[in-house]
Amino acid sequence: MKLTLAGRLARVPATISRNLAVVILLCWCSAVIAAGAEPAAAPIVLTGADRRPATSLEGEWASIVDPYFSGLFSFHHEEKKNGWFLNQKAKPGDPFPIEYDFAKAPKLKVPGDWNTQRESLLFYEGPVWYERDFTYQPKERTRTFLHVGAANYHSWFWVNGQKVCEHEGGYTSFNCDVTSAVHAGSNFVVAAVDNTRHEDNVPTLETDWWNYGGLTREVSLIEVPETFIDQYDLHLHGGQDSVIEGWAHVMGSEAGTKVEVEIPELGAKASAVTNDGGRAAIHLTVKGLERWSPQTPRLYKVVLRAGQDSIDELMGFRTIETRGTEILLNGSPVFLRGVAIHAEAPYRTGRAYSDKDAETLLGWAKELGCNYVRLAHYPHAETMLRAADRMGILVWSENPVYWALEFDNPKVLVKAEQQLDEEIGTSRNHPSIILWSMANETPNTAARTQFIETLANRARALDPTRLITAALLVRAEGNTKIVDDPLGNALDVIGTNEYIGWYEGHPDTADVTQWRIAYQKPMIMSEFGGGAKAGLHGEESERWTEEYQANIYRHQLPMLNRIAQLRGISPWVLMDFRSPNRPLTGIQDEYNRKGLISERGQKKQAFYVLQKAYKDGTIGKAD
Ligand code: GCU
Repeated sequence: MKLTLAGRLARVPATISRNLAVVILLCWCSAVIAAGAEPAAAPIVLTGADRRPATSLEGEWASIVDPYFSGLFSFHHEEKKNGWFLNQKAKPGDPFPIEYDFAKAPKLKVPGDWNTQRESLLFYEGPVWYERDFTYQPKERTRTFLHVGAANYHSWFWVNGQKVCEHEGGYTSFNCDVTSAVHAGSNFVVAAVDNTRHEDNVPTLETDWWNYGGLTREVSLIEVPETFIDQYDLHLHGGQDSVIEGWAHVMGSEAGTKVEVEIPELGAKASAVTNDGGRAAIHLTVKGLERWSPQTPRLYKVVLRAGQDSIDELMGFRTIETRGTEILLNGSPVFLRGVAIHAEAPYRTGRAYSDKDAETLLGWAKELGCNYVRLAHYPHAETMLRAADRMGILVWSENPVYWALEFDNPKVLVKAEQQLDEEIGTSRNHPSIILWSMANETPNTAARTQFIETLANRARALDPTRLITAALLVRAEGNTKIVDDPLGNALDVIGTNEYIGWYEGHPDTADVTQWRIAYQKPMIMSEFGGGAKAGLHGEESERWTEEYQANIYRHQLPMLNRIAQLRGISPWVLMDFRSPNRPLTGIQDEYNRKGLISERGQKKQAFYVLQKAYKDGTIGKAD
């Protein structure tokens, strides 16, 4: 008769069996400790990761919802050594039950937020586990990275039971070195993503958008040679069309490693060598370069090489600067005819991530007559920025320092700096991006100003070729709006939000509103507008009707035109988007309805009011 473990233990005197059980437990746990013991390296930033060949891990992943995070933490909140990341399979005779099984678990599609994939997860905030198998063939002298386009909000990753990285921040891409964890044949990757909001997160507890959780953008494997280019930056040198300068950083290289940059269409090529810090300064003279602009979104193939590594980038070259209260694009004043956009997927809703999402949203912006978009309130996907590059749409990109963070908490500043580094490091070569926004509607306190000035200085040091902005709150004295937030001193371009006609006064209050701006700098009205349910009609005095919303725009535009130093607008917002703050049944139903278009693609009357203004130059000069 085959004895089970219990049967065998039953035959042993009690004292010995208890000790035996302890020994078995220790042996069993030690077997798993080896799997997850060594600390994982911090993830790295790869510029232009989407331009590298990659093995996509998109598709159906096993998923387990784990609200108490018992798959990772013990009851006294220590990380388990035998957590669900081991992807264990129950076997006869196990000393303990395995109480999870990815093979039998329901699936979630990656990329994609979990909220819109399963009714039971629409409002879910907490940890969810993901697992998928993949076959792999490691190559000699190659490093392999697990590339994650975004995971909201806090995420942990293991490959074959070995922890490979941990990341905080829901809107920036990162890359985990999995070289030592992958092996030939079948492998498995496990991720845990926790979208729980915390006071000391970036953003903090309160936002006016849906907390879409999960592996919300692409996940793939990227292979690079042992010596590879991790970050690079190329741009026009000052106002000259004949010089492209910049740098490339090479990881795993000795000083003196050669870096080559080539633009085949221009017959231009240059080389440089890395310094002790791994950075090579690049200086490339070119002839016949056509600058990138909304009218001519000219992109060039740019090849960067170092050792065995080579990247085929797609880049546009332009200049952006301010002169007094003007914004100069390629040396000429430009007015930014824009609209604000959340990364809400048209039609299907949920977190936008795909080329199609990007082309639909930016196609609507183009149809509106825009040359510019404010991508709020966090860094958007590379697909969105590549589409803006192709379509010739200028971009305001934003770090999610939104409303009242813990500005006096040094740990929060480190988190905001990390996300800023990732945003700029990943997306620094898009010609479409002209503005790095540090924040949105933050309270005017000394701690806040110091926090964001620190970010602004960091952004300038990371990227001196772009303009720094933020969307400021505006105070009022009677019918005079006063823009004198001290944060304005740290900005190149002043962004201001106002909601005359919706949150303040009536639409015709705009007719009698004056503006007093303390800064001789370009100004962008970074938000204004009001709500309407698509298809709801009535008098223009009736809130939530399309007529009411259109009337706000009719009164806003002449007021905006009276602001002498206004150089752009991005009305709030292109498309209705989900927000848990907006429950009004039958009207909002958990959507912010300030969109010019509904999430189902229905254009509201206000869309056409603004479209006409852009087309006939009523607001800003048409280029
Ligand atoms: C604020 C905020 C937006 C928000 C909007 C609104 O200005 O910046 O994120 O959605 O107002 O109230 O609709």
